[in-house]
Amino acid sequence: MKRVLVTGGTGFVGSHVVEVLAQLGMQPVIATRAPLERNFPWEWVEVDYLNRESVDAAVGTVDAVVHSAILNDFNVMQNNRRYAYDSYVVSTQNLSNAASDKPFVFISTDWVMDGTGHMVPEDEPPNPLNIYGVLKAFGEMVVKDRKQLGSIARVGGILGKHRLADQGPRQQDCGFGFFVTTMIEQLSQGNEFTVWIDDNVNMVASPSHATEIGAIIHRMIEREAEGTFHLMANESIGRMELALLAAEVFGLSPDLITQGPVPPEGVFPAAVPRDTSLDCTQTRSILELDSYSVSDYLHMLKREMETGKLEPLTAR
Ligand SMILES: NC(=O)c1ccc[n+]([C@@H]2O[C@H](COP(=O)([O-])OP(=O)(O)OC[C@H]3O[C@@H](n4cnc5c(N)ncnc54)[C@H](OP(=O)(O)O)[C@@H]3O)[C@@H](O)[C@H]2O)c1
Repeated sequence: MKRVLVTGGTGFVGSHVVEVLAQLGMQPVIATRAPLERNFPWEWVEVDYLNRESVDAAVGTVDAVVHSAILNDFNVMQNNRRYAYDSYVVSTQNLSNAASDKPFVFISTDWVMDGTGHMVPEDEPPNPLNIYGVLKAFGEMVVKDRKQLGSIARVGGILGKHRLADQGPRQQDCGFGFFVTTMIEQLSQGNEFTVWIDDNVNMVASPSHATEIGAIIHRMIEREAEGTFHLMANESIGRMELALLAAEVFGLSPDLITQGPVPPEGVFPAAVPRDTSLDCTQTRSILELDSYSVSDYLHMLKREMETGKLEPLTAR
């Protein structure tokens, strides 16, 4: 059984990747910066990503690495550039070097693009607008510089519910992710939900689903895929369109959905890419993946929220 180190396996995306890899027959090992509880459900190893010996020791016991860990606080990134650079780039270098002879999957983002394109293909060079995008683009370069077995898994606007925590890191922000599950909760309780529509907001994207991210990464590892891949629905959607579609799929009243500007506490302190939709034609062809729509992903989210189980659409 292949052992796979998942950095940030305690996080929103990582917790899905861990569970799906296990379901599909791999043995996940979570890399984490601080010890976890004794009864934690998965094997874990404490790692200091800036200490090469610590990273080498963790990577030495596995057959592949999925790098999902990030410093997920934009204000900290802006205000502490050294810490941010180390957290994003140096840690990626250390992990990539330690795994130079093993499949290494780097989870990246649609925010490496500047938001002026539409359904941008896998081979389009990044042109990030803010420090988060810049640091992720640097991480992508680390992977591109590898001689072998390096892959970039770009994701965005991710649907899903954190597998190890009650809530994700945010409820709605100027990015495309996070607001759908909060909106469903609010509408289910008969509350209104305001979708942020504003100039400095990510208005169009191709959403990913965290479970599908796990299943596609499983395939990438199995096939020792190399290059850049887009792990998302095969279409773009606008922010309000997504909110209305989610309400329809979940059988909730669209009348409770309003739109409004970003509240002061939500204003993003840097430029935001407007249309981050990515095309996944090359990815689907290389990895022989079926094509799924945003509606397919929302139905999958509904099933997961009803059953508590992850059921990836992408079969082994
Ligand atoms: N969520 C989205 O909508 C979205 C969109 C596009 C791309 N992505 C990408 O998806 C990946 C995962 O994001 P996520 O939303 O799952 O994040 P998350 O829930 O915040 O999880 C990230 C994990 O990284 C670890 N971490 C926190 N601070 C760190 C630091 N300074 N250095 C190293 N590790 C740190 C934490 O694990 P420990 O405390 O256990 O170490 C945390 O659980 C990232 O690569 C991100 O760029 C996410």
